[in-house]
Amino acid sequence: MTIKIAPSILSADFARLGGQVAEAEAGGADYIHIDVMDGHFVPNITLGPLVVEAIRPYSKLTFDAHLMIENPQLYIADFARVGADIITVHYEAVTHLHRLVQAIQSMGKRAGVALNPATPLACLEEILPYADLILIMSVNPGFGGQSYIPTTNDKIGRLRKMLDAVNPRNLSGKPAELEVDGGVKASNIASVAAAGAEVLVAGSAVYNKEQSVASAIASLRRALGE
Ligand code: DX5
Ligand code: ZN
Repeated sequence: MTIKIAPSILSADFARLGGQVAEAEAGGADYIHIDVMDGHFVPNITLGPLVVEAIRPYSKLTFDAHLMIENPQLYIADFARVGADIITVHYEAVTHLHRLVQAIQSMGKRAGVALNPATPLACLEEILPYADLILIMSVNPGFGGQSYIPTTNDKIGRLRKMLDAVNPRNLSGKPAELEVDGGVKASNIASVAAAGAEVLVAGSAVYNKEQSVASAIASLRRALGE
């Protein structure tokens, strides 16, 4: 399985966000992870469709929008219009998840379903055949720079088995992806991948004062043994 690295721009320099997105692409990132927070679903406010539209011209990579917002059904058309390629909504924030997943796919976008750390995998049972991506939160959503919750590896392993058994396919016939988000660093990325994750979000491990974006991504790839 090829592991994808998805830098989260949450930890980037917002005064020069376009350039920071371009640096991630030049440094070998696979996706650009965009954390959208509304101050209600999570206790923090970040950015909306206007900002996604502004940074879209800076990279051809897949834009992976992680909506940590209430009532995401009201905003998916906006995120689709400004160029999000994957739109992930939280199980905990949606009443009619099956309808919403289909609405996202009807816009030609990939639909992701995210679970908070305390939300059990059993919640995915009915939606799994329809999902293009499952995002497992390995920190409580709202902030970058938190520590990886160690029991997440076991959850990832169990989800990997569920995905392999159901084997959902996206619009292009590719298998649904298992993404892990929060606290992923060079020191633990190999174990998270070994547990069964295939898209690894990294915010503060990519955008920080110690390293350039390119050398941070290279460190993550080295840690993966690539
Ligand atoms: C948390 C966000 C994550 C986070 C990742 O609410 O969804 O994407 O920014 O940042 P790090 O890698 O610093 O935990
Ligand atoms: Zn995220």
